[in-house]
Amino acid sequence: MDHIVEIQNLTKDYEVGFWKKRKVRALDGLTLAVEPGQIFGFLGGNGAGKTTTLKILMGLLFPTEGSAKILGRDISDVEMRRRIGYCPESPYFYDYLTAAELMDYFGQLFGYDASVRKAKSADLLTRAGLPEKDWNKQLRKFSKGMQQRVGLAQALINDPEIVFLDEPMSGLDPVGRREIRELISSLRDRGTTVFMSTHILSDVEALCDNVAVLRGGKLSATGKLSELLVQSEGDRAFEIMVSGVGHEAIQHEIASINGCRVSSKPGGISIEVPSESDIDPVLAAVRQLNGSLISVNPVKQSLEELFVETAAG
Ligand SMILES: Nc1ncnc2c1ncn2[C@@H]1O[C@H](COP(=O)(O)OP(=O)(O)OP(=O)(O)O)[C@@H](O)[C@H]1O
Ligand SMILES: [Mg+2]
Repeated sequence: MDHIVEIQNLTKDYEVGFWKKRKVRALDGLTLAVEPGQIFGFLGGNGAGKTTTLKILMGLLFPTEGSAKILGRDISDVEMRRRIGYCPESPYFYDYLTAAELMDYFGQLFGYDASVRKAKSADLLTRAGLPEKDWNKQLRKFSKGMQQRVGLAQALINDPEIVFLDEPMSGLDPVGRREIRELISSLRDRGTTVFMSTHILSDVEALCDNVAVLRGGKLSATGKLSELLVQSEGDRAFEIMVSGVGHEAIQHEIASINGCRVSSKPGGISIEVPSESDIDPVLAAVRQLNGSLISVNPVKQSLEELFVETAAG
């Protein structure tokens, strides 16, 4: 199997309005393939179509056009569903159940014995960072972050080959996010493929091997994260950090160099120059003002820039 997920020309129109006459195109000809064994980031701003895609993949919505395969099987294949896991955007469960009961319920759906269910439930709730004292509490008493953890644990009950997570970090505090990050990266280490939608860019940078960026229901960029962020050789810019000079003084001193950008940053004054040949004249100007050099670094496009460029609008 080359691809664990294959999406072909997926299109979804929601019918809205009283007579369902008006159509809203939420997905527009999305074609995408995911290789196994990685953490795949499915990015896009609010309303880009991430949840719609995941719901179609999970068989919860029918596409208007197009098709998709998971594990080489069409998404309508019921047997394939036993081998995958899913955590929805805001996991909503029957909230009079306790966390342990919920896990037991899902374990029964997969036909596990009581002892296996108990062991799996304890292992997964622990890995998802839910303390044992909360296992027998009703879900309605859980905070959003705690519910998110139960949702993740639930998605892993059947040791899925691939798990689909819709915004797994939403509602988590920084400690929780770190724990869930570790859980997600441990899944990759065990050979589980992770397909996760998110717009939290620091999580993407920390976790994802490959990404796809959706914009208005269409694919606007896809590939290895490291490659998407490299700027083309021709327009490599540099950032020179200096201290001991005034913002205005240095601005005045280098006014004759085209395209320089001076800004104050927490670590000193930052001067961005458009090309390598501009570095020397800037350094000369800094020396002239008795300032000192802190660092010179090539400017890498940030994920935020890539995201704003390709996903906004
Ligand atoms: N049930 C629905 N009926 C009508 N329109 C819908 C419905 N669900 C989603 N949409 C529309 O489809 C588009 C895509 O929505 P979707 O929920 O897939 O986006 P998303 O990328 O998951 O956004 P978010 O980051 O906010 O979760 C949006 O324009 C949304 O308004
Ligand atoms: Mg969504």
